[in-house]
Amino acid sequence: KNIVILISGTGSNMAAILEAAERQHWEREHGVRVAAVISNKADAKGLQTAASRGVATQVLDHKAYASRADFDAALAQAIDAFEPALVVLAGFMRILTEGFVQHYAGRLVNIHPSLLPAFAGLHTHQRAIDAGCQFAGATVHLVTAELDNGPILAQAVVPVLPGDTADALALRVLSQEHVIYPRAVLQWLTRPGTAA
Ligand code: GRF
Repeated sequence: KNIVILISGTGSNMAAILEAAERQHWEREHGVRVAAVISNKADAKGLQTAASRGVATQVLDHKAYASRADFDAALAQAIDAFEPALVVLAGFMRILTEGFVQHYAGRLVNIHPSLLPAFAGLHTHQRAIDAGCQFAGATVHLVTAELDNGPILAQAVVPVLPGDTADALALRVLSQEHVIYPRAVLQWLTRPGTAA
């Protein structure tokens, strides 16, 4: 079963998935492998990380396409060349068209840095601090047409500490993202429908 990971930047969640796949022998134990990492940005740091681990990488610059629909069609074509059982959004900073999302219904997952359904969208950590939340976290969910919506597959909770900045909270949340995302991905591919 092939996984294709989409990134736009650092790719620390992507790296966590690649590390878990290696450490836990996903290919040998489950027939699951990360076939490719695709970025919409040529300078995404995660591309080097993926290449250094021997994973195929590809860049599709969204700015080279006339419309969102054109980009999504080209992206889907690039992804489908790998016949993925699962497409993993890992800090992929593009909103996807409904057609794209439909095409991957049930095999497209995302991680969002809040305890959904609270704080969909951007600036989640500052918004959690401003709201006086005592806890924050991250959510792995299936992607549906509505942004940061869709069935929840896994969540992690961290405390919001007195004097927290958005950056400090983001780091605390990110370290938990690295724990739950690989687990949820493998879970979805091996025993879909059960809790991660
Ligand atoms: C993470 O916080 C993720 O939740 C959000 O974007 C960030 C990506 O970080 N969707 P990285 O590229 O995986 O390091």
